[in-house]
Parts: sequence; C-alpha cells; structure tokens
Amino acid sequence: MRIGIMGLGRIGSFHAETLAGLDGVDSLVVTDPVAAAVATATERFGATATDSPEALLAAGVDGVVIAAATDAHPDLILAAVRGGIPVFCEKPVARGVEESLEVLRAVEGSGVEVHIGYNRRFDAGFAAARRAVLSGELGDLHTVRSTTLDPAPPPLAYVAVSGGIFRDCGVHDFDIVRWVTGREVVEVYATGGNRGAEYIREAGDVDTASALLTLDDGTIAVISDSRHNARGHDVRLELHGMKDSIAVGLEDRLPLHLDDRVVVRTAAGERTEELGRRSSYTYQLEAFAAHLRRGTPLTLDAADALTTMRLIDDCYRAAGFPVRPRAVLPATA
Ligand SMILES: NC(=O)c1ccc[n+]([C@@H]2O[C@H](COP(=O)([O-])OP(=O)(O)OC[C@H]3O[C@@H](n4cnc5c(N)ncnc54)[C@H](O)[C@@H]3O)[C@@H](O)[C@H]2O)c1
Repeated sequence: MRIGIMGLGRIGSFHAETLAGLDGVDSLVVTDPVAAAVATATERFGATATDSPEALLAAGVDGVVIAAATDAHPDLILAAVRGGIPVFCEKPVARGVEESLEVLRAVEGSGVEVHIGYNRRFDAGFAAARRAVLSGELGDLHTVRSTTLDPAPPPLAYVAVSGGIFRDCGVHDFDIVRWVTGREVVEVYATGGNRGAEYIREAGDVDTASALLTLDDGTIAVISDSRHNARGHDVRLELHGMKDSIAVGLEDRLPLHLDDRVVVRTAAGERTEELGRRSSYTYQLEAFAAHLRRGTPLTLDAADALTTMRLIDDCYRAAGFPVRPRAVLPATA
C-alpha cells in the first residue's frame, strides 16, 4: 500500500514513523510547506516528496493521512474526497461547525470514507471503561470527570489556528465522554480563564477551561482542560456509578504529587508524551491501514465528529469566550 501524509509537524512526523513500520505499508508520499520537514521524512523513511497536496493526491496513493495544522483540514479533506481517496484526518475536523458541516456535506454520498483521529477510542484503558459502562457493571452512572492537562502551552502559531482550547484540546474529552458513556449531552455550562502564557489571551483564547455537562440519562460530566501542568501530560477519566467506579489514567506515571502513603496501580491510560511507544496512536493507524486493505469498518466518521463540534460550540456560547461579563461576588467582610 502507498500512503500519503499531508503535514509533517509534531504529530505528522510521528505518524510517518508509525506508518513506515506497519505491515502492508510499502511506501509513503509526503508533503509539507516546510522543506526541512519533507527532507527529514525522505531521509528517514525513504518517503517520496511532493511539492503540494494536489501532487500528492495525483501520486497514486491508496489512502491519505492529514496531519497538517487544523485550519488546513477542510481543504485537504475535500481535495482527497474529490479524488476518491480514503482519509484519516487528525482531530478536529475543522475550526468550527460551519466548516465541519461543509466537509460533512461533501463526504455524505461521496462513497469516500473519512476517519477522524480521536486516538483515545483506541486506548485499552478507555475501551475497558466503555465496556464497564455498557455492560452495566458500574450500574447507573451519576458522575463522570474527564481531564486533559498539557505540560506546556503550544506556540502562538499553533494556538492561532487551533480553533481554541475546547476544539483543540478539550475535543478529546468531549468525544470520550460521549463514546465511553454512549450518551449525548442535553445541557452545558462552561467557563475559562487565563493564568499563564500572555500570548494565549492576546490570541483571544483561554489557557484553562472547564465544562459541566448533563447527559441525556441525567449523568453529570465535568471536563477540565489546561495548557499548564507543571508535572507533565495528565489524561484521566473517572466514572462513578451506583454499583462501582472505574478510572483511566491512574498509573505509576501519573503526573501528580501524591501523598507518600498512596500507591496508584490501575489500568494505564493514554499519554501524548508517549509518542515513542506503541500506543493508541499506533492502533488507530493500524485500523486505518486494515480498512484500506480489507474494508474493515472505521470507528469514527465525520458525522460523529460534527456532533462533538456542535457540543463544543454550545460550550463556547455558554462561556462567552474570550471575554464575558463576570458576576463579581462582594468581598466578605
Ligand atoms: N490526536 C492527538 O492527540 C493530536 C496531537 C497533536 C496534534 N494533533 C492534531 O494534529 C494537527 C497538527 O498538529 P501538530 O502538533 O503536528 O502541529 P505542528 O504545528 O507541529 O505541525 C503542523 C504542520 O502542518 C504543516 N501544514 C500546514 N498547512 C499545510 C498544508 N496545507 N499542507 C500540508 N502541510 C501543511 C505545517 O507546515 C506544519 O509542519 C492539528 O490539527 C492538531 O489538532 C492531534
């Protein structure tokens, strides 16, 4: 199989390395406006360089992996769909609902499969949590908490085209809450603020945000995201039901300063900083390659991703980012 990769930044170069090692992938064709990134991929993986997405799509690829900056996703997806080439595109589909809808309309009826890369759905810990919920093992849920804390903010150039913290970072939490519980959200409250990098505020974004969601069975879900976590990348999910509770991401590398008496050993969760290890990132590309080879179904399509984008828009409306009047409580005497 010949796979195209559009975008060779942080995640694109990692995907190139994974794809180069997958069974059934014979060759890679790559493109990125940054010449040095292309040169590295040709040297390391013997990839064929092309000077534009159009040239890549004309190079006889069986499927394309889109790992370009978020603002480029819609045009690149649409170009691949027009060419009849199956797509794996990194999350999110686009920076907002309007652009995502445009993509969805083009995909529907095209006969071309478009898979959106929400890697947590391929993580063993999150999959175990979903099984525990859907089998009834936890009983009726009452509370879900989903956390994504990045070790340090991405650079301004990334923030500026990311769509904002909920669409860029929180999108994993919104997706995983929907997927693990199998429920949809009926009510939202959201807020956010800036305590860290000044350029994030100047870009009209917040560095820390939370959303409070009511699911259609009455479960309350709390989402907590930040660009600042001094101890490292923290991805956790906790589910509490009437019969039992389960947590994902509490393991011996949990970046939290625990009480000396506490030892945490439970199911491992995904950590982005493990980009070198075999992980959910590998499994999702294996699933894409299997789809190209044998037509096995993909787990998340553009329509499912659009539902998450709509939910995020509701949260933005609720929060009134970037600036909103705040009720200031009178200081206590
Ligand atoms: N699933 C995850 O956990 C995860 C992790 C990181 C990034 N991402 C997503 O992957 C995407 C890229 O993130 P990143 O961290 O690698 O960013 P990055 O800034 O490191 O890299 C983006 C690359 O895209 C290239 N690019 C821009 N426009 C392009 C175009 N039209 N055609 C080809 N290449 C183009 C840029 O030159 C750059 O090399 C973002 O959408 C991000 O949300 C997902």
